[in-house]
Amino acid sequence: MFKKIHWTVLSMLLVLSVILTACGGGEAGTAVAETQAGETTTSSGAQTTGGSMSQVEVFSWWTGGGEAAGLEAMIGVFGARYPEIEFINAAVAGGAGTNARAVLATRLQAGDPPDSWQGHAGQELIGTYVAAGQIEPLNFLYEEQGWLDVMPETLIPLISQDGNIYSVPVNIHRANVLWYNPAILSENNIAVPTTLEEWFAAMDILKEAGVIPLAMGEQWTAMHLFETILLATLGPNAYNQLWTGELGWDSPEVTVALQNFDRVLTYTNSDASSLTWQDAAQLVVNGDAAFNVMGDWAEGYFRELGMRPTVDYGWAPVPGTVGTFQFLSDSFVLPVNAPHRDAAIAWLTVAGSREGQEAFNPVKGSICARTDCDRALFGEYLQSAMDDWATNVVVGSLTHGVVANDSWKTEINNALGIFLADRNVANFQAALTQACSTSGPCR
Ligand code: GAL
Repeated sequence: MFKKIHWTVLSMLLVLSVILTACGGGEAGTAVAETQAGETTTSSGAQTTGGSMSQVEVFSWWTGGGEAAGLEAMIGVFGARYPEIEFINAAVAGGAGTNARAVLATRLQAGDPPDSWQGHAGQELIGTYVAAGQIEPLNFLYEEQGWLDVMPETLIPLISQDGNIYSVPVNIHRANVLWYNPAILSENNIAVPTTLEEWFAAMDILKEAGVIPLAMGEQWTAMHLFETILLATLGPNAYNQLWTGELGWDSPEVTVALQNFDRVLTYTNSDASSLTWQDAAQLVVNGDAAFNVMGDWAEGYFRELGMRPTVDYGWAPVPGTVGTFQFLSDSFVLPVNAPHRDAAIAWLTVAGSREGQEAFNPVKGSICARTDCDRALFGEYLQSAMDDWATNVVVGSLTHGVVANDSWKTEINNALGIFLADRNVANFQAALTQACSTSGPCR
């Protein structure tokens, strides 16, 4: 008797789900049918386990500086599509997720995952969360939403393992951007540098003139600067080989890269360690520093501050990296045992949708991961980033999770911390060589 009722209810839900899917159409069509008990089914096929649709807790580190505004815009799209689901914004402050990722790790260890979290495409995802069995494959959602036709081919392998796709990318960011203050450069008769030598010469002039040549912030921003100098010195092929183990960290080319990095640091502000990335970027638009190397989320921040592109700030590839796009991609995942699994799928559906990405990216300072967003919605800088993404050689970022998994990155970061204090190039190189042997592909 119970069995019969059970199956009747299930088949009714199935019919309802099919009807809703048919009505939904297109990418918005993750149909969600709510039962009286608040349990749900979705048309999202595989592994549907129900789960309350009352709320969705989404974890990120987007709390300010253009980033929170971008997230809010996407939450707006979510709220319009799923007004019945309460959105819980569990963002933890701190650039590059330095604090957020520690909080997340503690929660995951305690078996208390949020419904979805921000993770970077590449080794951070595959070498960390997938390796630990913490997230579910999302192939069913890709099939249902037709995302394989609209997500870039370069990205899919970085979020996949053994044929399983593990996240929904919302954007593409560029790491190797040199932001500059146009007025300071013209006052000092400095052309925008395109090589490291030109850049050093420009920064010598600025130092002489009493201007801070290069604004830098806390340690992760030094790692961000470091990866761009590695790229500038080695070029894209050798840079890539560092991460596959084909080029030794003890090689003479790397010595030159570390010497260049050491020299770049001589042009930075003395209070770097106490500044956030926003503080450092702001030194440039306020006229206190000439240059800052930061990902293009800085553009979202400049816009939020009311600064005008090409007038209050200019941009160029980090000198020595012209023609190369050092990228990273923010993506969202579905945890194993998400407390509100179906609501999490609803969030992921919006994150992967054109509407969600078109709302999010122009404000966040990134370009869509999707290839079909409307170019006209984006400002001058981001349109130039779209062109470069389409034509440049693409390499991955270290600081933002593409090329190294968490344990290798942590070792590099420890070596960097010591180097920032003692500035001993030989010791730094030895520690980096060791890190590749302990946690990287040189094992
Ligand atoms: C990166 C992230 C960007 C931005 C940046 C600064 O790791 O991918 O979206 O949030 O940190 O916080």
